[in-house]
Amino acid sequence: MILAIETSCDETSMAVMDEAGRVTAHRIYSQIADHQPYGGVVPEVASRCHVEALPPMLDEVLAGLGEPLPRIRGVAFTRGPGLATSLLTGMASARALAVRLGCPLAGVNHLHGHAVSVRMTEGGEVGALALPALILLVSGGHTLLLLEEEPTTYQVLGQTLDDAAGEALDKGAKLLGLGYPGGPEIEREAGRGDPAFVPFPRGMSRPDPNPARALCFSFSGLKTSLRTHLGRHPDQLTSHLPDLAASYQEAVVASLLLRVRDALDRYPGVRTLGCAGGVARNRRLRALLAEEARRRSLVLALTPPAYCADNAAMIAASAHLAGDWVDPVSGNVDVLPGWGL
Ligand code: KG4
Ligand code: ZN
Repeated sequence: MILAIETSCDETSMAVMDEAGRVTAHRIYSQIADHQPYGGVVPEVASRCHVEALPPMLDEVLAGLGEPLPRIRGVAFTRGPGLATSLLTGMASARALAVRLGCPLAGVNHLHGHAVSVRMTEGGEVGALALPALILLVSGGHTLLLLEEEPTTYQVLGQTLDDAAGEALDKGAKLLGLGYPGGPEIEREAGRGDPAFVPFPRGMSRPDPNPARALCFSFSGLKTSLRTHLGRHPDQLTSHLPDLAASYQEAVVASLLLRVRDALDRYPGVRTLGCAGGVARNRRLRALLAEEARRRSLVLALTPPAYCADNAAMIAASAHLAGDWVDPVSGNVDVLPGWGL
């Protein structure tokens, strides 16, 4: 069995995965309430919360297994990208545990974990995927279009040139006077609103003429246009909040779909359309992706909502499928806060 630890940002999470790729234990402690008074994640607060949450969580996970400790054959942890001080807490815990158990250690790329999560089933099993797959990875810090031709090897086809989709939702929510994190708040308001109320611009509605950027995204203009709109119509914050939220959410989601369609046109051999990351919880985005997959007769692989936000099950899955196992004492497992995919 693999024990995995995720502490890249504001979620402390642990998971155990058995030899067959089944999640047998999973805990997530979300720090949202700890950061809410500040309107965003405070790195200092995050690392302190991890330090407090990790030991009792480990006790709980191990107790729940009802198995003796030595059955763990490897310890995985998130090596990057993420907040340096948060990553360090997970690395130190994982390393100490691996030394104590005399088992190898794997430093996992957080984005690889998100990408692999499209294979997870609702029941917590790592399944197979029909390849090639196009995967839209949308989180608070990243917006990536990935092509998976060989299992768990990802080619970055495009990414955002400025804000990530989740960041655009978080910043938009702030402008609308909604709470943090903004994505779920906007989705909740949008449920009662009219998405056609304000025709906010779709970021890069036409692809960048530079071929290297043809599949890239941009969200900073959208945020600015919301700010400008609110400057002109401040009264709408009270009279039309759901309509504004629905219009803004629609612009973010439609911008994502534009590039997904471009990528699918460009890679006609793709068999699976996947989506992962915190923003993949969004029901409007899931519905549009499902419609696109149906229209093109593609297999749909949306990460189950329980594994969209940061979690250790996806870190365990990444290590299970493609772990880079090293000796916990002599191996280089330094954290990599700016690690790309
Ligand atoms: O993957 P994630 O949990 O953390 C990062 O690795 O960044 O993603 C967090 C992002 C936040 O921007 C949050 O607002 C967004 O995911 N998010 C959502 C929803 N739930 C979380 N965005 C849209 N709709 C949601 N239901
Ligand atoms: Zn993440």
